[in-house]
Amino acid sequence: MKKRILAGMRTSGRLHLGNYLGGAKGMLELQGKNEYETNYMVADLHGLTTPYDKVTFAQDTKNVIIDYLAAGLDPEKSTIFVDSHVPEVIELAYYLSTVTTLAKMTHLPTYKEKVKQFPEHVTMALVNYPVLMAADILAFNAELVPVGIDQEPHLEVAREIARRMNQDYGTNFKEPKIFATKGKYVPSLLGDGKMSKSVEGSYIALTDDSKTVMGKVARMPSDAGGPGEVPNEGPVANIFTYLELFRPNRLEYYSGMYKRGELKYSELKEDLARAIFDVLRPIQEKRKEIEKRDIDERYIDRVIREGTEKARKIARATVEEVKEKMGMLG
Ligand code: TRP
Repeated sequence: MKKRILAGMRTSGRLHLGNYLGGAKGMLELQGKNEYETNYMVADLHGLTTPYDKVTFAQDTKNVIIDYLAAGLDPEKSTIFVDSHVPEVIELAYYLSTVTTLAKMTHLPTYKEKVKQFPEHVTMALVNYPVLMAADILAFNAELVPVGIDQEPHLEVAREIARRMNQDYGTNFKEPKIFATKGKYVPSLLGDGKMSKSVEGSYIALTDDSKTVMGKVARMPSDAGGPGEVPNEGPVANIFTYLELFRPNRLEYYSGMYKRGELKYSELKEDLARAIFDVLRPIQEKRKEIEKRDIDERYIDRVIREGTEKARKIARATVEEVKEKMGMLG
């Protein structure tokens, strides 16, 4: 039996380089391997738990799908869908919420963070976020979930819910585990925290052209360029982290230059920007191809429709079993 994988990213505008290297690349790594069955969705329902723009939201969701495909997710190998198109997940979330305490939900670090960030927007949907995520996962009885380590508390919730359901109602949910792929942590260009869509100047969009990348890299904070040891933290350390990620074979050369006080940031940054754009180029070419296919044959609609059909079948069966075991009238 293949191990079932489920992962998703929230609708939140276009993916950036951090999402790609940290998330999508891991998803990609698992696709097409014999031992895994991969299911990848856009978590649009989760996007509703914080303030969002209803005018752009549908397109934003579609854009994540386009980014998935451009990054190399392949509908022949993975089931690709949009969460809200599988209403069984919402239905399941309700049943799962009956074994989840409010206290547990309001103590999660992710919840507290959002409360701080959006104090006017502490809704039932926000509190329920981890239950919905558990439903996403348990609807498929997924064993492995490739997500960033920041999601571990949510996976712990999903495991607790699975245990509780199995104990109280005799269901057969597997306890899902986080799956560490070779995803990389990509820091903000500005050197504080991780690359984030919500911090202007911190990220490189997958759609940025070479000039834009050059401009953004040029604006990365630096110093006089030595002489001395390369610092372990701060803006210069950040630039060297970028070299490590994108230009590892020049790391030694540049740190040598720094030590001797001969480093020219203009040279380094041009080199770095080029290396970063080399990662983006194939994704952008693939995107063009996909967008053309979409115009010619409504390709993306078809991908979503076929993915949804497969996903719903699996989720429906889970919900029916849960309802029956919980004693609902059939
Ligand atoms: N909470 C995840 C995030 O913010 C997104 C997500 C929603 C998800 N449902 C999921 C990830 C199910 C994996 C599986 O990144």
